[in-house]
Amino acid sequence: MHKIAFYDTKPYDREWFEKSEHPDIEFVYFEHKLDKDTAGFSKNCDGVCAFVNDTIDKDVINILHDQGIRIIAMRCAGYNNIDFKEAYKKISIVRVPGYSPYAVAEHAMGLLLCLNRKIHRAYFRTRDFNFSLNGLMGFDLHGRCVGVVGTGKIGQVFIDICRGFGMDVIAYDPYPAKSTDICYVSKEELFEKSDIISLHCPLTEETRHIINEKSLGMMKDGVYIINTSRGRLIESESLYEAIKSGKVKAAGLDVYEEESDLFFEDCSDRIIRDDVLKLFLSLPNVLITSHQAFFTSEALSNIAECTINNIMAYFNGEALDNEICYGCISGKKDGICHKKEKGRCF
Ligand code: NAI
Repeated sequence: MHKIAFYDTKPYDREWFEKSEHPDIEFVYFEHKLDKDTAGFSKNCDGVCAFVNDTIDKDVINILHDQGIRIIAMRCAGYNNIDFKEAYKKISIVRVPGYSPYAVAEHAMGLLLCLNRKIHRAYFRTRDFNFSLNGLMGFDLHGRCVGVVGTGKIGQVFIDICRGFGMDVIAYDPYPAKSTDICYVSKEELFEKSDIISLHCPLTEETRHIINEKSLGMMKDGVYIINTSRGRLIESESLYEAIKSGKVKAAGLDVYEEESDLFFEDCSDRIIRDDVLKLFLSLPNVLITSHQAFFTSEALSNIAECTINNIMAYFNGEALDNEICYGCISGKKDGICHKKEKGRCF
């Protein structure tokens, strides 16, 4: 039996992991996030299961390693919260590379539709028997230019959805998808031409603050920005200024730069100290959801199944298709990845 410490547990995680239970795995559920203060919880465990806002830095990796942990199974696609250099050759990291690109892409379109047609505002008005249309006018998405940054699994589904609406799609990706008819342009051209920009790239050194004062300055007046990828793709204060000046007409954010202590939690009883977030929440043309784009039954089922398969593949000594390491993510010479020859990164 392999005992796995499951951090940042929410009732829905438990429900879906219990549905997909495996006779050789026992999950030990902790509500706390993983960080250096809670890493010790996994002392008698064989592995760790973690999520997007867990802290997997140098200290945590060394505590886990000293306790004998050799695998961290991320139950998500993103991995920007991990110190891969420190984990290299100490702890194998596996993840769920794609569990439902439809879930995230559909949520991105949901944010866009809601903002454009002011559905969030209409909902509250009609509940108050206010049937006025003043201030609720939108525009036809048909014929508008949408710029998609990142054309991987989610970006491509989002492009298909946009085409279904009759929108003109342009995209930027330094690694263009093969055998597709996507119209690729430079990052600058995308910023200049798009009526709507939707972010679907990972958070890396190159993409951090890809939306900043300079890139916002290149954009059309009245541009819409949708971010369902990672909060740090956007420099929040610059976005706030651009919204205030009218440069950005609306923003749909499923992720936020400083989300880690807030999102997924009920903070209604707390004083929120993040002034930028408070300002965003006070604006009628900013729609914030708390990292829920992935949250469909199909996605949760796929996450549980894939995480369990990843863990069993590790303990059975099999190839780890979903492993990632310092070598494969960075291409750095001091982190050579052996996955192609050995089926495992190291
Ligand atoms: P993917 O790996 O299939 O695609 C990412 C694409 O981004 C690739 O085509 C890659 O070439 C491109 N890319 C890399 N560097 C880039 C750059 N500098 N500029 C533009 N594009 C770049 O990943 P997938 O599954 O499509 O997910 C995309 C992102 O969505 C994830 O990295 C994650 O941050 C986010 N995500 C958010 C969720 C949510 O619930 N809000 C759930 C799942 C993923």
